[in-house]
Amino acid sequence: MPAHRCGSLTRAPWQFLSPPRHRRAAHAAAAAVAHAPAWRPSSALDEWVQREARPISLRRLTFFGRTLTQSRLLDGANYCRLELPTRIAHRLRDIQTLPYVVVANPHLAHVYGLYLTAFERFRRVPEIRTLDDNERYCKILQETLTEHATVIPRLALGVLEVRGLMRPEETDKFMNTMLRSRISRRVIAEQHLALTDTFNSPWHFPQNQPEHDPHIDTVGEIFLKCNAKEIVERCGKTTQELIKAAHGSHVQLPDIHIEGHLDATFPYIQSHLEYIIGELIRNSIQAVIEKRKYHGVKPPPIEVLICETSQHVLIRISDQGGGISNEILPHLWSFSKGPRHQKRLQNLARVPKLLGTLQELKMPGAQASKDHDKHDGGSSLSSLTSRPPDLRLGIGLPMSRVYAEYWAGSLELHSLEGFGVDAFLQISKLGNKDERLTTRASMDA
Ligand code: COI
Repeated sequence: MPAHRCGSLTRAPWQFLSPPRHRRAAHAAAAAVAHAPAWRPSSALDEWVQREARPISLRRLTFFGRTLTQSRLLDGANYCRLELPTRIAHRLRDIQTLPYVVVANPHLAHVYGLYLTAFERFRRVPEIRTLDDNERYCKILQETLTEHATVIPRLALGVLEVRGLMRPEETDKFMNTMLRSRISRRVIAEQHLALTDTFNSPWHFPQNQPEHDPHIDTVGEIFLKCNAKEIVERCGKTTQELIKAAHGSHVQLPDIHIEGHLDATFPYIQSHLEYIIGELIRNSIQAVIEKRKYHGVKPPPIEVLICETSQHVLIRISDQGGGISNEILPHLWSFSKGPRHQKRLQNLARVPKLLGTLQELKMPGAQASKDHDKHDGGSSLSSLTSRPPDLRLGIGLPMSRVYAEYWAGSLELHSLEGFGVDAFLQISKLGNKDERLTTRASMDA
């Protein structure tokens, strides 16, 4: 096995290389690690990598959090305590097996450093036996969530910068796995923090639980009655306001017509759905106004159809924005390939500005616990209002698909060249499917 692919590294990946052939890369690597915690061997990592992730589903999380007693809360804390380092260990190992020139990239090295620090911190947490232990643990969780706020832009910039050093399919597989795993860890951590808040709330009485009280419609982060129509309306309104603010009030915006099963509800994490729908609607509105910007007439509406079946809720979003160009279409779901990414890469000449933006995101106010929909160039409600306008990393669509598939749904786009696009989002409405941690590439294989 080539040294840089070796699974159980005891040295930094680039230390296997001999100068002068790789001297420049080694210098770059050294500069990169100067900013990140030391790349040290960890036999503990080998141990944790042996463990399998124990998958969650929306239904399991709901049943678990429904009747919240002290002993359940502590069981939940201990599940997180073991699950988070296990899941991080797998991703650390993935990064270690990347080619050294890739891992030497400063953004990817930074993410590795964050994960290594989190792993070391999490794996040392002793069993949580009391509510005080849990309070201390929650503090660690919250701090780590905040520290990881810039992981997505870092990964996105990193994979753009290492274009050409890895095959695009490998890059996409790596990104998909990293992002799914990150969603999963944040769901687990945020769900535990939310249940702890519920438990500590002065209004918390065991009889006030959803199974006893039909008016309670959340269990931690899970909204039991997500309504697609309301989310489309909210995302549509916010997107329209922002586009108006960006293009000027004279711009003619398309209306959004919604029809179909308007009352359909299902359990979901609302911010995940807002991310996906916000992204699709923003793409549609932008395509429509760009196609017609010189016409001065009201553009045709965006048509949204909601369709409920016994297992799924399907949302079709159709626009008349001219479709997607053949140049872009084959690379639509790629994190690194295709002309739009080429453009992003050229824009990296502006890196100091972009990095300045990343720093801004770390500042107080850029609250991190919900950053899955805030810091990745996406367009959910919260990201639309807080994201600096020039931080678009071009990963909104592939990222939306990662979100859709995570809870066993799907996202497809059909482009009718010269006319418009139909986006199909399928949601598994029973919440009984396990989270999907495997990537499309490995599912397809
Ligand atoms: C991440 O956000 O990247 C995480 O690893 C989440 C974890 C700190 C709970």
